[in-house]
Amino acid sequence: MFFESFKDGEGCKSYIVACEETCSAAIIDPALGLVDRYIGQIAMHGLRVRYIVDTHTHADHFSGAQALKAEFHAPIVMHRFSPSPYVDLHVEDGHTLPLGELRMRIFHVPGHTRDSMAVHIGDRVFTGDTLLIGGTGRSDLPSGDADQLYDSCSASCWRCPTKRWCSPRTTTRAASIRRSATSARTTHGCRRPCGPSSSS
Ligand SMILES: [Fe+2]
Repeated sequence: MFFESFKDGEGCKSYIVACEETCSAAIIDPALGLVDRYIGQIAMHGLRVRYIVDTHTHADHFSGAQALKAEFHAPIVMHRFSPSPYVDLHVEDGHTLPLGELRMRIFHVPGHTRDSMAVHIGDRVFTGDTLLIGGTGRSDLPSGDADQLYDSCSASCWRCPTKRWCSPRTTTRAASIRRSATSARTTHGCRRPCGPSSSS
C-alpha cells in the first residue's frame, strides 16, 4: 500500500493512501495550504485520485477538499451528518468503499464532532480527531459531545492491535493509542473500560 503523510504549518497531518496495483488513491484530511504538494506527489507517483476524504468538519484549519476536487474531479467523501454542501458522497457506519484492490471501511465515531468518522485502509486506521496521541480531540466545538466521544473511544473500530494508527497529530502504533484511550476515560470522567485498552 502506498502511504505518504504531510504536515501543515499548524501541525495537522494529512495523508495520501493508494493501492499500488491499480494506483487508485485517496487523500485524507487535506489542508488547503498543502494542495500544491498533494498535486505534485500525485503526479510524481502516477496516482489517480478516487476519493477526497474529510474525516470530520474541521474547526482548526481550512480543508483543501474543494480545491483538490477541482483538480482531480474526484468525489468529496464525508459522513452523512456533515453539514457541508460540498460533499459528493455521504457515508455512514459500516460502509465500505473500494480503493483499487484495497477497501476503505467507515466507522462513525461522533463526539469530537457529530460527523466524525474513522477510516480503515489496509494496515492503517485514520482516526480523525477522535483519538490523538496522549488524548482525544476536543468536544467543546459545535456539534461536539463529551459523552459521545467517550462512547466512540470504546468502539470496536479501535481494537486492531496490529494496525498502524494515523491521527492528525502523529502516526504511531496501537500501544500509544491505548494510552490515549485511557487518557480519554480520565478526561471525560468515565468509569467503564475504554477503547483499545479493553480489546482482546
Ligand atoms: Fe477536528
